[in-house]
Amino acid sequence: MAAPELRTQRLLLRGWRAADRQPFAALNADPRVMEHFPGLIPRQQSDEFVDRIELGFAEHGFGLWAVEVPGECDFIGFVGLSVPRFQAHFTPCVEVGWRLAAEAWGQGYASEAARESLRFGFEDADLAEIVSFTSPLNTRSVAVMRRLGMHHDPAEDFDHPALAPDSRLARHVLYRLGREEWRRCS
Ligand SMILES: CC(C)(COP(=O)(O)OP(=O)(O)OC[C@H]1O[C@@H](n2cnc3c(N)ncnc32)[C@H](O)[C@@H]1OP(=O)(O)O)[C@@H](O)C(=O)NCCC(=O)NCCS
Repeated sequence: MAAPELRTQRLLLRGWRAADRQPFAALNADPRVMEHFPGLIPRQQSDEFVDRIELGFAEHGFGLWAVEVPGECDFIGFVGLSVPRFQAHFTPCVEVGWRLAAEAWGQGYASEAARESLRFGFEDADLAEIVSFTSPLNTRSVAVMRRLGMHHDPAEDFDHPALAPDSRLARHVLYRLGREEWRRCS
């Protein structure tokens, strides 16, 4: 299935185009964007990530949408829904996530696109719950989760299984949002 196109007041969330791959590789190689990841991502891995995103849309009907600011910028990064492949106390689950070029931060774009992703997840994909997680050092990402009305129980914090236990990034906070809760707040 092709990626459904979604619109918000300022943004277009759309399927990926070949032309997105170069700017995506550039943000994956930007130390500001990748500060809370284990390392920078080289071009080939960046392209393989896009391949997996496209397969994810075909499999689930949702995914990490390419985000465009119509008339201003063809591609600022991704925001959307994904199914984590690792096992943890809260999996299987659907996660809402975001990664934008640093030039696009500080304008509310991640939260705006994530709100529409949640709407799609709860209304169109009929999900009962959506989670999000990150290192608590990633304060910008945690702030997005809070803006979305997601909630955090410290008892659910976990060590990310894909990271070395002694990594500064291993500890993660988990935020959750249920469909009924989302309906009440939106
Ligand atoms: C996480 C990330 C997406 C957050 O981006 P962001 O721009 O800070 O988040 P938002 O879109 O919610 O924007 C909020 C900011 O825009 C400001 N803003 C400006 N105009 C706005 C508007 N019209 N509407 C809403 N907010 C607006 C807000 O005041 C807020 O500013 P602040 O950062 O000074 O508090 C971004 O930092 C990123 O891509 N990081 C790298 C990748 C990453 O770590 N991803 C998460 C992995 S778990």
